[in-house]
Amino acid sequence: MIATRRFTSNVSNQFRALITGAPGSGKGTISSRIATDFDLVHISSGDVLRRHVKQGTELGHKAKAYIDNGTLVPDDLMVNLMTNEIKRISKTRWLLDGFPRTIEQAKQLHKKQKFDVVVNLDVPFSEIKRRIQQRYVHLSSGRVYHLEWNPPKNAGMDDVTGEPLTQRDDDKPETVASRLNIFQSQMAPVLAFYKDLGILQTFTGTESDVIYPEIKAYLLGYLQSK
Ligand code: AP5
Ligand code: MG
Repeated sequence: MIATRRFTSNVSNQFRALITGAPGSGKGTISSRIATDFDLVHISSGDVLRRHVKQGTELGHKAKAYIDNGTLVPDDLMVNLMTNEIKRISKTRWLLDGFPRTIEQAKQLHKKQKFDVVVNLDVPFSEIKRRIQQRYVHLSSGRVYHLEWNPPKNAGMDDVTGEPLTQRDDDKPETVASRLNIFQSQMAPVLAFYKDLGILQTFTGTESDVIYPEIKAYLLGYLQSK
């Protein structure tokens, strides 16, 4: 098989992807592998929001209550925020994670920006609830750990910066249940929208180490066909 780096160095800059899936399905984990292997910029809407909250911006103040309750930040705020983020990276290959996640967001974005592929992670909710209890994150970079599955090299510390890891405020069991319910009701029409456009590819499983090679092969195949 051709090495990914050698291959991707020949492809155009015009590659726009979305990764979607329920809270805790592994979007962040798999995105960091895609970003490394395909030399893409990864932008997670949740990471962007959490940085605003941490910095105490006006948007951060508005978004905090929604995030802490496990409900969605209003569409108009999200569309403004994320279209600005996309403008900043318009010259690079990129992967969005967690936006759009309502049909309104998808339609608004579609007027301005089309995706080449949408990768959908389909992981059972029972597995997700188990995973999230052991998740730790490095807030400023968005790096994600799991106490057993991918623990940090030094307990409680980020591998790259050595800064302390934290648990997300919205990872309490009752908040996770609310996030999963909202995901189910809001994402069904979004997935149907991308399916109708012929760009949705779903990967089902419980192991990111098994799902990722399938995603990588799919993306390589897609890029090779262009
Ligand atoms: P966001 O940050 O996007 O959260 P989410 O979609 O709920 O997804 P998560 O980040 O929780 O999970 P993930 O799929 O990235 O999984 P991960 O790789 O960490 O959004 C947060 C909030 O912001 C929303 O609730 C909302 O309020 C707001 N928001 C964001 N976008 C919005 C939008 N567009 N519109 C409105 N509001 C918006 O993996 C999970 C854990 O599992 C990790 O610990 C990982 O190490 C572990 N893991 C992964 N794979 C495995 C495995 N195979 N085995 C064991 N553990 C594993
Ligand atoms: Mg995430």
